[in-house]
Amino acid sequence: MARLLYLLVGLFVGLSHQTCSTDEDCSLNGVCAKGGVCQCDPAWTGTDCGVLDIRPAKRNGGYNLTPEGTSSWCSKIIQDPKENDLYHLFASEFTHGCGLDYWAPYSRIIRAESRTGPAGPYKFAAEVVGTFAHNPTVVYSPADKEWLLYYIGCPTNVTDTCQSMSFTCGPGNDVNGESGVSVLSSSDLRKWTFKGQVMQGDNTSDWDADLTNPTAFPLYSSSCGRAESTTDGGHCPGHTAAMLLVYRGCPINCGGSELINVAFSESGYEGPYKKIESQPIFDDANEDPFVWRDKRGNFHMLLHSLEPDGGFGWGPQVGRHAYARNYTGPWTFGNRTLAFSTYVQYDDGLVTQFNRRERPELYFSNDGQMTPLLLSTGVQEQNSGQSYSLIVPLGDAGVKAQGQS
Ligand SMILES: *[C@@H]1O[C@H](CO)[C@@H](O)[C@H](O)[C@H]1NC(C)=O
Ligand SMILES: *[C@@H]1O[C@H](CO)[C@@H](O)[C@H](O)[C@H]1NC(C)=O
Ligand SMILES: *[C@@H]1O[C@H](CO)[C@@H](O)[C@H](O)[C@H]1NC(C)=O
Ligand SMILES: *[C@@H]1O[C@H](CO)[C@@H](O)[C@H](O)[C@H]1NC(C)=O
Repeated sequence: MARLLYLLVGLFVGLSHQTCSTDEDCSLNGVCAKGGVCQCDPAWTGTDCGVLDIRPAKRNGGYNLTPEGTSSWCSKIIQDPKENDLYHLFASEFTHGCGLDYWAPYSRIIRAESRTGPAGPYKFAAEVVGTFAHNPTVVYSPADKEWLLYYIGCPTNVTDTCQSMSFTCGPGNDVNGESGVSVLSSSDLRKWTFKGQVMQGDNTSDWDADLTNPTAFPLYSSSCGRAESTTDGGHCPGHTAAMLLVYRGCPINCGGSELINVAFSESGYEGPYKKIESQPIFDDANEDPFVWRDKRGNFHMLLHSLEPDGGFGWGPQVGRHAYARNYTGPWTFGNRTLAFSTYVQYDDGLVTQFNRRERPELYFSNDGQMTPLLLSTGVQEQNSGQSYSLIVPLGDAGVKAQGQS
């Protein structure tokens, strides 16, 4: 009898530990292994591999000029292709000592440099685009052999004292100029050429009339695909210039829910971009998407969640993950676990709960494994108008990358 009970208890415990039956149950951030337990890839943890394995951050890393009175926001880390020990950070920075509330129109895009590893600390190097320019993200396009910087904004003169101003950079918003996506290209990360506004909002009553928060990923594959075994004159479908672009939409002048959609351009980064759906891909309100394709060819997003316990200082639940086998969908919004929160632990043991933590961007390993090593976010401390760019390591590999100096 006791033995049977033991067996039954064992069976129950075994079953209750079974958390997956497919890799989708592991958020496509790992595999569903024998026994129904997720085996997470490096940088991911949690029963469904939907939680970033965030480790203590270097106390003085990132890009933080707030002691000098300058605020910054979203930032993307890029390793210099020629000098291995040089890292670039492309970030939004606000002129005239203005704080986060005055991001429009005071934001400009800057490049900062670190020779003490990818986690920084970074030092200002150059302005890339003057006011108003915001929301930079940089990707390398193998088909074009160029770096691409996606951003929002248009040339706008600002006044010397921080104040809001109504202006437009295209259809969809004439209050803060956020609607419309532009792109720059560069072969050396230093000299950038404006290639145009490649996606616009509109003045209709659509849910995504105001179109902003671009994030892009090239659909290029280093393998040729099926054509390798054919004799069609060296044509290689895998070497496509096609570009994926994920954005956040909201009704005109952002007078309603902020929701996410996916677009792509067959013909290259200059567009035209076609939306995969006319409706948002999730019902959940989110902004600031960051998109990438992993080593298995699956697609992922990190998002700034606008759920009631997250958003703009409403609570700690600010970071969500979403995934899909194909960028055309269906996409699954990870609502079982939180990808990241407003709590950050430092290597001196202290923990800070930020008021706001948004605009997630990842820095990946360059070994072909696409292992996320570092997470950068814009952060704002409690009771502060200032903001800066925080960088935290992910998993053992991230700790190793951060420690490199
Ligand atoms: C900004 O001001 C300068 C100097 O007055 C002027 O030449 C320029 O056209 C203005 N730019 C815009 C975008 O209004
Ligand atoms: C959209 O509306 C704004 C004013 O609300 C106007 O400035 C802009 O010219 C309009 N754009 C188009 C393409 O109609
Ligand atoms: C992704 O979906 C598109 C459209 O449904 C399809 O044409 C394509 O073959 C799919 N790609 C993969 C890798 O399954
Ligand atoms: C999570 O998402 C699934 C699928 O969209 C939905 O059925 C479920 O109700 C959601 N759960 C919560 C707690 O929102």
